Formats: sequence, structure tokens, C-alpha cells
Amino acid sequence: MSKIGIIGAMDLEVDALKAEMSVTSTTKRASMEFLEGTLNNTKVVIVKSGIGKINAALCAQILIDEFDVSHIINTGVAGSLNADLDIGDILISKDAVHHDMDVTIFGYKLGEVPQMGIREFPADEKMIEVAMATCKEVNPDINVRKGRVASGDQFISSKEKKQFIIDNFDGDCAEMEGASIAQAAYLNNIPFVIIRAISDKADDSAEMDYPTFEKAAAKHSANLVKHMICKL
Ligand code: ADE
Repeated sequence: MSKIGIIGAMDLEVDALKAEMSVTSTTKRASMEFLEGTLNNTKVVIVKSGIGKINAALCAQILIDEFDVSHIINTGVAGSLNADLDIGDILISKDAVHHDMDVTIFGYKLGEVPQMGIREFPADEKMIEVAMATCKEVNPDINVRKGRVASGDQFISSKEKKQFIIDNFDGDCAEMEGASIAQAAYLNNIPFVIIRAISDKADDSAEMDYPTFEKAAAKHSANLVKHMICKL
């Protein structure tokens, strides 16, 4: 039976889901609270990882080792790198890449994790399709598309940095956790998908837009997660 691990970096990315779940136990590991129980008739473990790639990777590994999850979903907000993705729209990961990994000096591609032979970590096809179909069903007014998540330990808020990530990684959205969850899932052979609602354009307007739109965007993403988990 499916047991879905759901990771959000911040309270506002998981609070709506926690509020609706029926909790059977709470466990603290690495200063993170893992809530086990059911949501929408599905076994889940919901956790706030904290922000950034290291928190997210630790969190994913704990979910796999200690909670035996069968799938991982990362829900949250992101900055748009694609002119077709506006604030409030939703991106479903086709794959995820580290935009701040650079070992090009030794012949690796920019973003490639050395000695792993992989640069983009692919999301699970079934989870992608379930997320896309569910989004169209429960959020018919929201524009949704598949794309590439570009992750780094940086909040992207300049035209130049945004363009760098577009030019070098062909990313569709920028955030700070997805690729490390993807890498942990890949190493453990666990299917994953990243769902991100757009809170800003990852450029000079991001500083203003992000605080204005993060709450509504996080809710869109969480609502989709709630409705898709029973179909996995
Ligand atoms: N999360 C939401 N917006 C972001 C941005 N512009 N850069 C990185 N992470 C984000």
C-alpha cells in the first residue's frame, strides 16, 4: 500500500495539509517533526524540512529510512523562469537539476554531480501524469505545465542570475530544495515528483512579489497534493 512522504520547506507550504490530516503519531528527527497519519484516505507522513538543499536532503533520507515511504512529493512555491508561467500557475517537475553545482574545471557539465553520471534527476512518470490530470480536475482555472526545476541555495532575484539559469539549465522554475530531494529519491530508487506554485518571477520584482503571493501560491500546490495522493 502507498505511504506518501510529503515535504514542504516552510510552515505555509505544509500547514493546510497538516490541518486536514488525521495524525496517529509525531516523531522528531534532525529537529524536524514527522507527522504520520492519513489524509484523504491515504497513508501519509508530512514534514516541514526547513529551507535549502541540505535540510531537504536530510529530510528525504529520514522519510525513506525511518518511515518507509513508497513515494515522495515536494510541495511549495518557486520563482518562474519561463515566460509562460505566471504568478499563481503550477509547475509539475519532469526533472530537477542543481543550478549551483559547478565542477566544470574537471570536465563535468555545469550542474552535473561528479561521479554520478547524471545531471537532471527524472521525476516519476506516473506521479507526473497523476499530478497533471488532478490539477486540471481540481484547479481548472490554474495554468499547469510540466517542466524543469532548478534548485540552489540561493533566492533568485535578479535578471542576470535568472538568465544564467535559463541559459545554462533550461529551467522552468527556481527554488531551493527540489533537486536534493530528487537526488535522495534517485539514490534510494523511490519515485518522486515536485509540485511548485509560482510566487514570483525570480527577477528584480521578486523581492516585492514573493511576500505578496507566497501564501496563495503555497495553498494551490498543497490543494493539488491533497487531491492527487489517493490516486498513486
Ligand atoms: N522560492 C520562491 N521564489 C524563489 C526564488 N525566486 N528563488 C528561489 N527560491 C524561490
